[in-house]
Amino acid sequence: MHNRVNISDKIYWVGCNDRRTHLFENYWPIPKGVAYNSYVIVDEKIAIVDTVEKGAMDEYLDNIEAVLDGRQADYLIVNHMEPDHSGSIRSLTERYPNMQIVGNKKTFPMLKGFYGISENLLEVKEGDSIDLGEHKLNFAMVPMLHWPETMVTFESTKGILFSGDAFGAFGTLDGSIFDDELDLDYLEEEISRYYSNIVGKYGSPTQQALKKLGGLDIKMICATHGPVWRTHIADIIAKYDKWSKYDTDEGVVIVFSSMYGNTEKMADNIARQLVKRGIKKIRIHDASKTHPSYIINDIFRFRGVILGSCAYNGGLFPAMETLIHELQNMAVKNHVLGIFGSKAWGGGGVRTLSKFAETIKWEVVAEPAEALCAPANKDYNQCEAIAESMANRLKELYS
Ligand code: FEO
Repeated sequence: MHNRVNISDKIYWVGCNDRRTHLFENYWPIPKGVAYNSYVIVDEKIAIVDTVEKGAMDEYLDNIEAVLDGRQADYLIVNHMEPDHSGSIRSLTERYPNMQIVGNKKTFPMLKGFYGISENLLEVKEGDSIDLGEHKLNFAMVPMLHWPETMVTFESTKGILFSGDAFGAFGTLDGSIFDDELDLDYLEEEISRYYSNIVGKYGSPTQQALKKLGGLDIKMICATHGPVWRTHIADIIAKYDKWSKYDTDEGVVIVFSSMYGNTEKMADNIARQLVKRGIKKIRIHDASKTHPSYIINDIFRFRGVILGSCAYNGGLFPAMETLIHELQNMAVKNHVLGIFGSKAWGGGGVRTLSKFAETIKWEVVAEPAEALCAPANKDYNQCEAIAESMANRLKELYS
């Protein structure tokens, strides 16, 4: 049986699950896999909405063929050109040579650049629509959600929003397609990690998109990854609103880089002092062991961040360097920061973290604690001062 599911009378999900890829975008771990969702609307005219990554193409083309049942596709709507969704476009154009490719003026240079395709193009602008017969497709531009060419397609007779990456999730669709068919608790971290890792840099464009889409009567959201939202629409929109406003909860993420355990001892000390001051939600990560994907996700959750590094070749330890580079690159906003670390002679770890604090413009709660070789009492006292200031600031913000 082919992999297709009716999401309404004449609209089908024809996506594929990817359980083989270890790293999404060759960087982000996906232990629960990922789904590439594509949809087909069968009407007087047939429209396919987005495609799948090329590794899933054979299965995908079979799925499409089964739905089309000998008919030709008339339109391919390209909401987003990232190759996890555009990877099967060339094969589709070979199979359906008269199909028009629908995109906007920023879509087509990418289509030519990635796949050499420059024919059968139909350009749409904000507010344009296409009638398929019973169904009507309306287009809205949502730049930088997640690339500059990104748009969404709203099928207005059924109230279905084809949202591209927005409202997507990591995790395969294990028999269930709709949000009310699957175990959302199991997927919870994969939903937030997808946002924080993939879309998280684009908080402001996400806010603009949410305002633009706010006036639509949305009955279903069909993203290009993760479940089809039909029951928990308000919840997922509220989550995107919260995350894209960098609105976080009371809690502290402590991340350390430690070669021989001295900086780690300071991390544990700070955590204990935070607990004694009533902070319950604390996550400690060793930057050498935990992929930044998970650390960044926790930082999107909690207001407090305390970073510690030993010195390494006169600078930061490499794993911490990678993490702060990503935080800067993603321009993560609105955190309260504490800094600690250790050195055996000239230092560099704490110094670099202090520069990071200036660049990212997070509020720093106390002077850094920096141990010489192993932490001494004065260093633990400074760890306590950091915990005290952090706890006080969080209580002020959340009381
Ligand atoms: Fe799922 Fe930005 O691609």
